[in-house]
Amino acid sequence: MASAPAPNPPSNDKAKAYADVAAEIAAVLEGESNLVARLSTVVALLTATFDSYFWTGFYLVDPNQPDQLVIGPYQGTLGCLRIAFGRGVCGAAAQSRQTQIVPDVHAFPGHIACDSRSNSEIVVPAFGPDGALIGVLDVDSTAFGAFDEVDAAGLEAILAQVFGGAAPQAGASS
Ligand code: SME
Repeated sequence: MASAPAPNPPSNDKAKAYADVAAEIAAVLEGESNLVARLSTVVALLTATFDSYFWTGFYLVDPNQPDQLVIGPYQGTLGCLRIAFGRGVCGAAAQSRQTQIVPDVHAFPGHIACDSRSNSEIVVPAFGPDGALIGVLDVDSTAFGAFDEVDAAGLEAILAQVFGGAAPQAGASS
C-alpha cells in the first residue's frame, strides 16, 4: 500500500531539524572553500532532511551578466537555466534581496513554472561577507503552503553560516 506523503512537521520539530542540518553542513564543510562543493553539500543535505522539498537548488549571479541568475547545483527535475532579476520568484528575491515565501505559486505574477507539480516555494538570497549577492536558494514543494517563517529563519541562518554574509531581514512574503 502506498504511504501518504509526510505531513509538514510541527514548527518546533522543524526548527530543530534546521539546527541539526546546519550543524551537519558546518561539520562536512569545515576546511572546504570551493564554492561548488559548498553549494552542492547544502543542497544534498537539505534535500535529505526534508520530505517536503521537491526541488532544491541555487541560482547564482552571473559574473558576465550581473542582472541575470544562472543555474547552480540542484536536486530535482530539470530547472530553467537563466532567470533575469525581477522575473519570477527567484528574480524577485534577487532584486529585493529579501526572502520570498509563496504559498501558491500559481497566484504569483510571473512565476516561472519549471515543473507543474510545484505548488509552493521559498527563495532565500545568499550574501558574501562583503554584502554582495551571490545568488538565491530556491526550494519548491508539491504541497501548497509548505513554507513559513521557520523555514525562512532556518535557511537564512544556514546561508549566512555557509557564505559568511549577514542574514537578510526575515519574512518578506508576497
Ligand atoms: N520557481 C522559480 C523558477 C525556477 S524553478 O522552480 C526550478 C521562479 O519562479 O522563480
